[in-house]
Amino acid sequence: MRKINIFDTTLRDGEQSAGVNLNFSEKLEIAKQLERLGMDIIEAGFPAASPGDFASVQEIAKTVKNSSVTGLSRSIQKDMDAAWEALKDGAEPRLHVFIATSPIHREYKLKMSKEQVIEAAVSSVKYASAKFPIVQWSAEDACRTELDYLAEIVEAVIQAGARVINIPDTVGYITPMEYGNIFKYLIEHVPSINKVQLSAHCHDDLGMAIANSLAAIEAGASQIEGTINGIGERAGNAALEELAVALYTRADHYKAYTNLKLNEIKRTSNLVSKLTGMIIPPNKAIVGRNAFAHESGIHQDGVLKEKTTYEIISPELVGVSSNAMVLGKHSGRHAFKTRLEELGLVVTEEEMNKLFATFKELADKKKEMTDDDLVALVLEEKLSKDQRFFELVSIQIQYGTNQVPTATVTLSGCENETIMEAGTGAGSIEALYNTLEKCMNDSVNLLDYRIQSVGAGRDALAQVFVKMRYKDIETSGRGLAQDVLEASAKAYLNAINRVIFLKDPASVLM
Ligand code: KIV
Ligand code: ZN
Repeated sequence: MRKINIFDTTLRDGEQSAGVNLNFSEKLEIAKQLERLGMDIIEAGFPAASPGDFASVQEIAKTVKNSSVTGLSRSIQKDMDAAWEALKDGAEPRLHVFIATSPIHREYKLKMSKEQVIEAAVSSVKYASAKFPIVQWSAEDACRTELDYLAEIVEAVIQAGARVINIPDTVGYITPMEYGNIFKYLIEHVPSINKVQLSAHCHDDLGMAIANSLAAIEAGASQIEGTINGIGERAGNAALEELAVALYTRADHYKAYTNLKLNEIKRTSNLVSKLTGMIIPPNKAIVGRNAFAHESGIHQDGVLKEKTTYEIISPELVGVSSNAMVLGKHSGRHAFKTRLEELGLVVTEEEMNKLFATFKELADKKKEMTDDDLVALVLEEKLSKDQRFFELVSIQIQYGTNQVPTATVTLSGCENETIMEAGTGAGSIEALYNTLEKCMNDSVNLLDYRIQSVGAGRDALAQVFVKMRYKDIETSGRGLAQDVLEASAKAYLNAINRVIFLKDPASVLM
């Protein structure tokens, strides 16, 4: 059995998904969960991209101890210097440096000859190897690169000190057999190939990212890259949960294993979905709501007689629990704290005090508090506190079938001033959002609005996701409350606060 390293790029390639921008605490929370999942390598971001990216990569490198933390860098010294500053305190700093190698990219993007690209790649790897114990080199758009040239540049960067060679299918163009053949070609034609690990990085434009990654493993790759839930640029990256479970379930075929704790998959997937606002389709493999649901009578009958008739993966394997533990208004602080611990939710004493008060308040209105509710509450408390420039003080909405919906909103502003406005709209949400826009004194475009219940029941908590454009930045926001209108107001303000933070991260990072 070969060990396959799993390289997670949810916080870098995944964060490049349209409309996704995670803040500092959200990235940290995801990184901690990736560590718990047993990720070998976590690509925490692109440190030279912005001060916000730099700060989160630095914090993740300092915090995460059981995974190697890496950051992306172009083949230029200032990027590599920024990456070193951000990563140097990590348990095992590694640099991920890339340059495009395909004729299309050389001619139109880089305007460089083949020789110039080799020279730039070699000098960046040499420069990085003097600082970093491990350097991973990537040939962007490798799959549309001439094979003999790819072999030549790979040999050159290995000689320069690269320890991992990544062959990305940047545009999601390759087929499984072709991708496997690239790996076989490199193994046969690159003299120093035995000194390095080969890595696969696939995009899903033609829906082949998983099949391609598995083909690379069969052809000799010992690292695969991807994201949780397959989020990423355009159609996304290979979904790591699918790869890990495929390798586990078909170990007989692939003769390979990973170090991932598969029963942490569902929790990781839920966290990424919640924080990015990217909803998991119900039929998504491994983590979709229907992935283990048997609907047809024939299937149900078979499963009742013998599970393996129609079930190749058990829900428990990936952490989908049937445990219906619920807390209610009579539950005490001890039971509450114990359940949080059982769910792996680590909170400080101060957070605990606030959370227990919120829990009691909600449990008074809501019969049962499920695990999903508790996770949602803890995330809300942990993740929104560093970005509360505008805070909701109160809302009042009037709606009747024969009257114009009216909203009155009171906020506390960036300098703790009180802002009050009233407005109308064709519906309650429009009235609320028109009024909030007045409070901002600037135009705000709502691009998407989605509402979801946390768990089941009429008294379920409401979770609202919005996408908005404010001050020329497209951003997203999330709000949780018992009432849908309050959750909508919170999601709106969460998105606004994100933009304020993006415009001036220093105000929070100091
Ligand atoms: O898809 C790609 O080519 C990348 C590289 C930067 C590794 O993400
Ligand atoms: Zn990519």
